[in-house]
Amino acid sequence: MSSLFRRKIVDLDARPEGERLARTLSWPHLVALGVGAIVGTGILTLIGVGAGLAGPGVILSFAIAGAICACAALCYAEMATMIPASGSVYTYSYVVLGEVIAWVIGWSLILEYSLVVSTVAVGWSGYASPLLAAAFGFPEALANGPGAGGIVNLPAVVIIAVVAGLLCLGTKESATLNAALVGIKIVALAVFVAVALPYFDGANLKPFMPYGFPKSVGADGAERGVMAAAAIIFFAFYGFDAISTAAEETKDPGRDLAIGIVGSMVACVAIYMLVAVTAVGALSYARFAGSAEPLALILREIGRPGVARFLAVSAVIALPTVLLAFLFGQSRIFFTMARDGLLPPSLATVSRRGTPVRITLATAAVVAVIAGLLPLGEIAALANAGTLAAFVAVAACVLVMRRRDPAGARAFRTPMAWAVAPFAIGGCLYLFWSLPSSTQLYFLLWNLLGLAFYFLYARPRAVAGRG
Ligand code: ALA
Repeated sequence: MSSLFRRKIVDLDARPEGERLARTLSWPHLVALGVGAIVGTGILTLIGVGAGLAGPGVILSFAIAGAICACAALCYAEMATMIPASGSVYTYSYVVLGEVIAWVIGWSLILEYSLVVSTVAVGWSGYASPLLAAAFGFPEALANGPGAGGIVNLPAVVIIAVVAGLLCLGTKESATLNAALVGIKIVALAVFVAVALPYFDGANLKPFMPYGFPKSVGADGAERGVMAAAAIIFFAFYGFDAISTAAEETKDPGRDLAIGIVGSMVACVAIYMLVAVTAVGALSYARFAGSAEPLALILREIGRPGVARFLAVSAVIALPTVLLAFLFGQSRIFFTMARDGLLPPSLATVSRRGTPVRITLATAAVVAVIAGLLPLGEIAALANAGTLAAFVAVAACVLVMRRRDPAGARAFRTPMAWAVAPFAIGGCLYLFWSLPSSTQLYFLLWNLLGLAFYFLYARPRAVAGRG
C-alpha cells in the first residue's frame, strides 16, 4: 500500500486537451472576482450579528479577522503563483503535504464553498423576498425553508440556478458581468459611509466591550465576546481564495494572481473598517444587532429611508457576485478532485467552451437544496470552520516549501514569511476555538465522514503523480 502522504506532481502541459481549462482571465478580472467574492453577506448582514456578540468592540473583531485574513492572503499569493493549477489549497496541500491532508482540506473546501453559496443565496432571498412580496404578492411560505416556518426558499433556489447558468455559458462572460456588479456594491457601501458618518457619536461606542474579549459563556448560555464576533465576522473577509481556484484559467498567473489576491484583500479591509466604524458610530449597536438588513436599518433610523432603499436594491442586484465566485470555486475544486481520481472521474470533463458544465450543475443542485431547505444560523459558522482549515494548510504549505525548496522560483514571496505564516496559523486556530462549540462538533463529524469516504472510495482510486 502506498503512503498516505504521497504527493501530487503538477504538469499543466501533460494534460489531454479535453481536461484543460481555457486561459481567458487577467488581473482586473481577478481583482473584480476577489472583491465580488469578498464583499457580501458578511458586511451587509453579519455585521449586525457580530455587533450583538461583541458590542461596539465589533470594530476590533473586524480588525482582528482582517489582519488574520491578510496574512493568509499573502500565503495564498505565494502558493498560487508557485503552483498555478486548478484546485486552490487542495492542490497545494496535495503537492506539498501529501494526499490524506489534501483530502481533508479538499473536503473542508467543499464544506466552505457549498455553505457560502447556500448562505448567501438565503441572505439574498432575505433582501429580495420583501421586494417581490411588495411587487407581486409573493407568498411568504415560498420565501423561507421549513426551519424558518415556510415550505421552501424559492428565491434562493432560483438565484443559484441563474448563477450556475451563467457559469456554464463561459468564464469570461461571467467575469465581465461580475465586474459591473462589483461596482454597484462598492458604490452602495461608499454611499452608506458618506451618508451615515456625519451622524457619528462617540457615546455610541461606550461601553466598548460589554461582553469582554475572549469567547465566554454568558448567564443565558450564549457564547459572546470580541473573539466570538471575530470568528463570525471572518465570513466577511474570505473570498480572495476563490481567485486562486481560477489559476489555471489565468493568462499570466505569476503576476495576475499576486495582484488579484493581495489587491482585493487590501481594498476590502479598508472598506470594511470604514463601514464598521460608521455603523457602530451612527447608531447604538443594540438597535441594529438583530436586524436582517442592519445597514439599511441604520440609514432609516437616521432619517434617510430613500438611501436605505437604494442600499437594499443594490444588495439584491450585486450579492449574486458572491454566489458567482464561490460556485465557480466550488466547481473547480470538485473538478480537480475528480480529475485526481478522488471523486468520480466521469465528472472531470469540460465542454467545448472550456467550462466544467457537468460538475457546475451537480454542485448547483446540491447547494440549491441546502439553500431551499435549511435556515442560516449555524451554516455561516460551519462555512467558516472549513475555511479556517484551508487557511491553516496554505500557511503550513508556505513554511514547508521555504524549508524544502528555499531557492525555488516564486513569482510572489510572502514578506517576513516566518512571522506572517505562523501568525496566520495561530490566528486561524484561535478563530476556530472562538466558533460556537456546536460548530466545532459538526466540523469534526463532517471530516470523520470525509475520511471514511477517503479510505473506502477515494484512496484506492487516486491517480497520484498525475497533474
Ligand atoms: N465574504 C463573503 C461574504 O461576506 C463570503 O458574503
